[in-house]
Amino acid sequence: MHSNGYQSGFGNEFASEAIPGTLPIGRNSPQRVAHGLYAEQINGTAFTAPRHQNHRTWTYRIRPAAIHGGFVAHAHPGFVGDFGDGPVPPDQFRWNPLPLPGTDAAAAPIDFIDGMFTMAGNGSAAAMSGVAIHLYAANRDMQGRFFYNADAEMLIVPQQGRLKIDTELGVIGIEPQEIAVIPRGIRFRVSLPDGVARGYVCENFGAFLRIPDLGPIGSNGLANPRDFLTPNAAFEDVEGDFELIAKFQGHLWRAPIGHSPLDVVGWHGNHAPYKYDLRRFNTIGSISYDHPDPSIFLVLSSPTDSAGVGNLDFVIFPPRILAMENTFRPPWFHRNIASEFMGLIHGVYDAKADGFAPGGCSIHNCMTGHGPDAATFEKASSIDTSKPDYIRETMAFMFETRATIRPTQQALEAAHRQRDYQQCWAGLRKHFAP
Ligand SMILES: [Fe+2]
Repeated sequence: MHSNGYQSGFGNEFASEAIPGTLPIGRNSPQRVAHGLYAEQINGTAFTAPRHQNHRTWTYRIRPAAIHGGFVAHAHPGFVGDFGDGPVPPDQFRWNPLPLPGTDAAAAPIDFIDGMFTMAGNGSAAAMSGVAIHLYAANRDMQGRFFYNADAEMLIVPQQGRLKIDTELGVIGIEPQEIAVIPRGIRFRVSLPDGVARGYVCENFGAFLRIPDLGPIGSNGLANPRDFLTPNAAFEDVEGDFELIAKFQGHLWRAPIGHSPLDVVGWHGNHAPYKYDLRRFNTIGSISYDHPDPSIFLVLSSPTDSAGVGNLDFVIFPPRILAMENTFRPPWFHRNIASEFMGLIHGVYDAKADGFAPGGCSIHNCMTGHGPDAATFEKASSIDTSKPDYIRETMAFMFETRATIRPTQQALEAAHRQRDYQQCWAGLRKHFAP
């Protein structure tokens, strides 16, 4: 599929057609659709959801989505869809980056779907609440294979290598420091323009992600709506022996399909994928004293029925200038009710001197103490705060959830886990001198 460019805005009523005259005028489902296409609606929210929270898209396509064979279980050794209810150690956890595939000559090439490794999660699709957090490392395009997720919208955060995501509604290209969100049900295929790719995926089982209200910040700031890009319609008309993989109720399934399901010639609506360049985030911070709460870095939030409490908050720590005077400038030591999964896309993270590499990740769960390591504490306690700090080379992020993030057994046992992570705080000396 060839990219037809993008439409700008967040959650807009988008409209796009790859062939002129495709979209019906004045009705959604005319008796006969132009060019011999089928009309099909995709609802991402309840029919009767309030208008400002209502998501649906009308597609005009070569074949309806119902045409495929029966599903059988798709075996996937690294994918976990059930996070259980057993004990979770309240330790701090950190991992090195997932090894890139292809370093072992005997290993078969692996694509974006089969290259997933589930790290942690909570809740479930059945509970309509919670998240699943995966790493991916891939070195092969999805070939003759398409995927959709009925359980969750998918937030994709590349750390290395670009992704070309051909979706039913058009083509999204992203590179590290950009993200993409694929809504529930939208079929897609991922290819790797750089041959190899690695990053993070968060499945959101709760309400769809949205940009936050800005309160006293005003009408501009944080992620601005016009920087969110949704693709224009693009389609392919191909037949063959293909495979449709579905994530459904915590499990992966596979069905034969005789054509590409990326066959939407025109569409309109707001249940649509989008991309965002994290480097466009308007970063806000203190210009007097103290280090504000990280909610100032909120890009997207999946709300719950409790006001101000997120099922999933996607937070970034972008380049910024720290000018607060007589203040400990890095993140303070803290314990939160929320649970945090952190990743690093680019550069260094300002709360840790070393050990947190791009592609790595950490989990700090509910009320587990954490904060800057000993080296960072010593440095930040003695710097001259009359001069600003310029943090230019960084892009860290956090998936923050109200429920405890439960690491999978394979994550706890993984070779890339740092079993000595807690030692980073062991050097914090006693300074008490009454
Ligand atoms: Fe934290």
